[in-house]
Amino acid sequence: MQTGSAAPCSKGRFLAAGEAPAVEIRRIHGAHEADLCARFMAASEPWLTLRRTVETSLRMLNDPRREVYVAVVRGEVAGFLVLQMEGAFVGYIQTLGVLPPWQNRGIGSRLVRFAEERIFSESPNAFICVSSFNQRARRLYERLGYEVVGELKDYIVVGHSEILLRKSVGALADFQRPR
Ligand SMILES: CC(C)(COP(=O)(O)OP(=O)(O)OC[C@H]1O[C@@H](n2cnc3c(N)ncnc32)[C@H](O)[C@@H]1OP(=O)(O)O)[C@@H](O)C(=O)NCCC(=O)NCCS
Repeated sequence: MQTGSAAPCSKGRFLAAGEAPAVEIRRIHGAHEADLCARFMAASEPWLTLRRTVETSLRMLNDPRREVYVAVVRGEVAGFLVLQMEGAFVGYIQTLGVLPPWQNRGIGSRLVRFAEERIFSESPNAFICVSSFNQRARRLYERLGYEVVGELKDYIVVGHSEILLRKSVGALADFQRPR
């Protein structure tokens, strides 16, 4: 897997930094894709600090109550998204990740927009949490229209907060599902 400013593309060509790749977003398939995402999480921030392991990541990725999607570029998994669309917290973007060779090419923003299309077809609120030490990810979400609605102190690990953000397209009582 490549690192640095170039990401693999078709026919041996490399994408220049900032060049937008063609991305397909679909449901995660098979143990191999879940394993890849879980290993990335367990070896990367913010999940290292949050003490996520391969096992706890796999449990979430394989949980049938969640919707798990991957962003695929030329057949290769470049990122993933875990959505919660059931229970008390409908419209929660639980996890978002883009593998290092693909970061900063707009794939994370594409995954958030995809999540919003899915969420706003059922509910007027999209929620996401970001760790208090993850300033770069928070900057991205604020740029995409998310606003801070609360701080969960010592929520996952002591000493760090989870910042809850929301993007809303209207009040619950006014919401009508798109036909
Ligand atoms: C955060 C993340 C999902 C964004 O996806 P992406 O495809 O890199 O993002 P985009 O190209 O659409 O947007 C770029 C923005 O993402 C953010 N970003 C980029 N790399 C990042 C990284 N390693 N960690 C956190 N945020 C990052 C920055 O805000 C960046 O914009 P800026 O530096 O110009 O301000 C991705 O970088 C990632 O998986 N990071 C590591 C894990 C993580 O922080 N996940 C989010 C948990 S809430």
